[in-house]
Amino acid sequence: MQDNDSVRGSWSSRWVFILAATGSAVGLGNIWKFPYIVGENGGGAFVLVYLACIACVGVPILMAEVLLGRRGRQSPVHSVRDVALEAGRSSRWSMIGIGGAVAGFLIFAFYSVVAGWVLAYMFHAANGSFTGAGSDHISGLFEQLLADPQALTIWHTAFVVLVMAVVIRGVNKGLEQAIRILMPSLFVLLLLLLMYALTTGSFGKSLHFLFDSDFSKLSWDGVLTALGHAFFTLSLGMGAMMVYGSYMPKQSSIATTLITVAVLDTVVALVAGMAIFPIVFANQLDPGAGPGLMFVTLPVAFGNMAGGQVFGFLFFLMVAIAAWSSAISLLEPAVTWMVEQYEISRARACIWIGLVGWTLGLGALASFNVGSDWLVLGMNFFDLLDFVTANLLLPAGGFFIAILVGWRITPSISRDELHLTTVNGYMIWHFLLRYISPVAVLVIFIANLYSKFQG
Ligand code: TRP
Repeated sequence: MQDNDSVRGSWSSRWVFILAATGSAVGLGNIWKFPYIVGENGGGAFVLVYLACIACVGVPILMAEVLLGRRGRQSPVHSVRDVALEAGRSSRWSMIGIGGAVAGFLIFAFYSVVAGWVLAYMFHAANGSFTGAGSDHISGLFEQLLADPQALTIWHTAFVVLVMAVVIRGVNKGLEQAIRILMPSLFVLLLLLLMYALTTGSFGKSLHFLFDSDFSKLSWDGVLTALGHAFFTLSLGMGAMMVYGSYMPKQSSIATTLITVAVLDTVVALVAGMAIFPIVFANQLDPGAGPGLMFVTLPVAFGNMAGGQVFGFLFFLMVAIAAWSSAISLLEPAVTWMVEQYEISRARACIWIGLVGWTLGLGALASFNVGSDWLVLGMNFFDLLDFVTANLLLPAGGFFIAILVGWRITPSISRDELHLTTVNGYMIWHFLLRYISPVAVLVIFIANLYSKFQG
């Protein structure tokens, strides 16, 4: 094990692991997607269901995923295979790792396109392009960006280069160094924005919106969205957390560490909501504006308030940082797998993986312009990537991880790896992982497919 660690690297402390895993979890999912899906699903009741999903489905699977990675101490493909073999099971369980590496690529492709929009908006905000603008002007600006493949390619490429620059340097010099700078900056920026939101006078209204639970506003569809988002926001189901776990020091406690990560991720999502909705309400805008909430509604608000140019820039800078620290975890499973499988250098593996991810991203960004009529099952390529990953591959990955760790590996392995000090703690985790998580996932999985094919 010691040898393996010195070749692969490992996080220099438990805190670095917490920051890195939180960096993966906190991303566009928290700041872009969470506020708009809360807005679309009526607020408080949705938030409550989402919190339940994080606690009962997300956290148990998160612990299972990290447990597999730390036990195997290799890429997800090889870690899952070796832990399965250790428990006397088939090496074919390593399919979880392969599916995960593929899912990582596909998420990366559309993620880096959205992150490219964020970079573009950072510059718009700094240039004062939003100042005094009405919502027609800003939605025009957004449509113009989407219609311009060249501009999109430039921003997408810039983001991919930023990500590769970190991944290529490896765990300690790349990932760890970046995380040590990015995460504290992210927290500072978020607090600054929260303080700003406190001055808008609509803070109380936002709290009511986020926390008053009126279950009549919650549809069955909203429940499914909450479950699916719990997966996406915790970076679950595709090996990202597994590979981060493989760099985790042996002596740290998986349970307390990952509960911390899940709490931080949730707090950031809620604080992002508390920072965004006051700005929306203070400007009499619609909280249910959907995906355009961040790219149309918020810029309108920034353009019409005191200090909006500075805060608008800081806001998009924060989102870019969050997206960056998440995207590095999307490619790590594939990179480590290539290094092990083909015995090539990390740099070469990164270049290959980066090129494939970048090319897929070109397909995703073409969905908004030249490729808008390349449809599969009525979805353009961008929506297809989102659908196949969030609705199929991640739930499938999470489901099989729960089955493998909950049912197929011997409890002695999981007990040894978790070393939970209280017997009850272990029993609760094991119960949730065996009976609650997989059933819930199966429900989302089937219901999503059902609603999709019913139209
Ligand atoms: N969790 C990130 C977000 O909320 C996205 C992400 C990063 C992700 N790595 C992942 C999602 C792995 C699923 C799987 O934006």
